[in-house]
Amino acid sequence: MRFLLINGPNLNLLGQREPSLYGAETLEVIEADLKEMALKEGIQLDCFQSNFEGALIDRIHAGIGGVDGILINAGAFTHTSIALRDALLSADIPYVELHLSNTSARESFRHQSFLADRAVGIVTGFGAMSYQLAFQGLLAHLRKKR
Ligand code: DQA
Repeated sequence: MRFLLINGPNLNLLGQREPSLYGAETLEVIEADLKEMALKEGIQLDCFQSNFEGALIDRIHAGIGGVDGILINAGAFTHTSIALRDALLSADIPYVELHLSNTSARESFRHQSFLADRAVGIVTGFGAMSYQLAFQGLLAHLRKKR
């Protein structure tokens, strides 16, 4: 199986960006750890980060036909982007929404997600571990279906 990890705007700054909220780990380290976990499970993991909405949408489109599942931390686009939602639904690839912080415990504008209702599941609030929990959840979901 092949998974795609997508990270949206400002997540390239993990490690230095508001560490009290998002932790000290860099995206590079998070991706490397997840790749290691994927390798052990026999999953090929591709990672993509962009600060541009269109680039995220193009990467989702490029996954059509070749990607079995998506892990997505869309950052602030989670709360604003109908276009990203449409891309995920158009691709028809099962996805898990994830966040480092507990978005429900933050400002009210972060309570809304345009991705959540069609996700396989949502993982929020576990810091870098959210990526690993989301991976395990997606994997279990897809293995059950096979
Ligand atoms: C985030 C939460 C979003 O509200 C915020 O805009 C981010 C990071 C998280 O991982 O906690 O950029 O997705």
